[in-house]
Amino acid sequence: MAPTTDLLKAPKKDTPVFSPENVTVLFVLGGPGAGKGTQCANLVRDYGFTHLSAGDLLRAEQEREGSEFGEMIKEYIRDGKIVPMEVTVQLLENAMTAQVEKDKSGKGKFLIDGFPRKMDQAIKFEETVCPSKFVLFFDCTEEEMQKRLLERGKTSGRADDNAESIMKRFKTFVETSMPVVDYFEKQGRVTPEAVYKETRGKLEQRLGKEF
Ligand code: C5P
Ligand code: MG
Repeated sequence: MAPTTDLLKAPKKDTPVFSPENVTVLFVLGGPGAGKGTQCANLVRDYGFTHLSAGDLLRAEQEREGSEFGEMIKEYIRDGKIVPMEVTVQLLENAMTAQVEKDKSGKGKFLIDGFPRKMDQAIKFEETVCPSKFVLFFDCTEEEMQKRLLERGKTSGRADDNAESIMKRFKTFVETSMPVVDYFEKQGRVTPEAVYKETRGKLEQRLGKEF
């Protein structure tokens, strides 16, 4: 994709923008409706993370007046497909930069929710933005996820919380996103999660109580 817009105007980099010394990044993965957003809200409350949901950032970009990606994002989301990574990586980088600049310490701790969902996103983000310390993976059955998403669809206003889009999202998750979880798993970077109490224990084991 040609970098012709403000969103994509950042120059190409060969070292990450943020150093993991200053910036803690945890990827939060799991199928649609696995509870990533809910768990992230708990972690924000207890540890002061900044929560960045890739899906939320894409929906905001879709709505942004003058965005040339609005229509494309809308179609990808409705079809449960993964939006071309340049867009999502740049949205995340912009949001992280804004937060780090706001926090005068130059530091930051981020939960990156629903990202990376495809191998190219994983590689690009870790090479150009910031390596992730580890990955929290929320496992959940499709049956349960479908039940939750259909329930959420009654009030979420989301164009993809309907039976047809949900099926497509599950397929994308299995075919495209699980390989990313497997990739991190092979590197010993995945922490599988069941309930929040466990999440806290394991997080503190990996990062220390005062991080
Ligand atoms: O995570 P969430 O369910 O909010 O994502 C909604 C949709 O946004 C996904 O189904 C996909 O179309 C898009 N998305 C993406 N890349 C990501 C995260 C979300 O393309 N990393
Ligand atoms: Mg979410």
